Amino acid sequence: MFVVVGVTGGIAAYKTVQLVRLLVKDGHEVHVVPTDDALRFVGLPTWEAISRHAVTTSVHDDVARVRHVALGQSADLVIVAPATANTLAKMTAGLADDLLGTTLLATTAPVVVAPAMHTEMWRHPATVANMATLRERGVIVVGPDDGELTGGDSGPGRMTEPEAILERALAAVDGGARDLEGLRVVVSAGGTREPIDPVRFIGNRSSGRQGVAVAMAAADRGADVVLIAAHVDDGPLVEACAHPRVRIVRAGTAAELGEVAAIEADSADIVVMAAAVADYRVAEVSPLKRAKESAPGDGITLDLIENDDILAALVRARRDGQSIVGFAAETPGEGETLLERGRRKAARKGADLLAVNEVGWERGFESGENALAIIDASGDLVASATGSKRDVAEVLWNAVLKVRGSRAEIE
Ligand code: CTP
Repeated sequence: MFVVVGVTGGIAAYKTVQLVRLLVKDGHEVHVVPTDDALRFVGLPTWEAISRHAVTTSVHDDVARVRHVALGQSADLVIVAPATANTLAKMTAGLADDLLGTTLLATTAPVVVAPAMHTEMWRHPATVANMATLRERGVIVVGPDDGELTGGDSGPGRMTEPEAILERALAAVDGGARDLEGLRVVVSAGGTREPIDPVRFIGNRSSGRQGVAVAMAAADRGADVVLIAAHVDDGPLVEACAHPRVRIVRAGTAAELGEVAAIEADSADIVVMAAAVADYRVAEVSPLKRAKESAPGDGITLDLIENDDILAALVRARRDGQSIVGFAAETPGEGETLLERGRRKAARKGADLLAVNEVGWERGFESGENALAIIDASGDLVASATGSKRDVAEVLWNAVLKVRGSRAEIE
């Protein structure tokens, strides 16, 4: 394959050396097109040595071979890694003031971008709007990952690792990246909040990041997605809002989520219940802030009522051909492994798949990483995944497609 790798001015450019190496090792013809700024991070000789082709940033070199459009025309795949906020803005506007800009305008090949920048820049409304436009035009966005950034900051903005970029890019060329096209997907995410009074609630530690990653992955693979958002951290929600194929419906309490889920699932092909739904609600929600009437050390009692099991209700109402996926956040118990607990829950819930993940004081929450074991209704392990919440989401969708495929074969 003829692959163009655009490199722009971010420190993550050093990781792109590995990406180019992997592509060359895979037998592809790789042409690196750095911006001038990128060369301040990794020099031109490195790109030439690793790609084994001449490298230039200028539209004025190699003019006889019309290089400014020839690379784009010849490309089977264009990857821009790292893609800075500036380059993404230039791509959105269609600016072509350097060789990378002209190449991007001249190509009809799949374009994959791996953004890398500080979280503030990634979440700036300008970048958010640019990403929406690029996605709408069919650009495949890989990452950014959540983690440590230069200068000690941390959050979404880290360039995805070269191996993962390569995998997604090759899938894009195979058309595999659009394998959910035409499917209507509903994903619930985040933690519900059950009010006690106007100022207090019973909630949980779910940030909604895993559910949002599941929704975004489905949308990037071509599905039309409804994201039912309980309490979700602002960052992931802003990203989801900007996706042209994600519609967001808010639901605060378990009861609200149940109502919305029933309506949205009615026409869905696949439903994923990633939300952390409260098992109980407060029996009598006080219309006024409850005053403290106890003394230090005294106990008080709050009456709770069990909520309906939304997942179980969805399974009962499941229409033909609909797939339903549940999540189970488990703390390893005494005398029972995580998988055994998951299997019992899978049998009880009746969903097609159950994604089991271990949680604890230090695990599972408020982190960019996750580890999942995915089991089917009979308790068999279908897949397991460890990595960023997005990586894990991709594995989950592969598993969903696998069970849908094997069910279609039986029918
Ligand atoms: N779930 C649901 N409705 C509820 C509780 C949970 O739909 N009232 C869904 C969750 O969205 C998740 C799955 O059921 O997909 C498992 O949730 P979990 O809280 O692990 O299971 P519970 O049934 O509440 O079992 P337990 O609390 O005993 O572990």
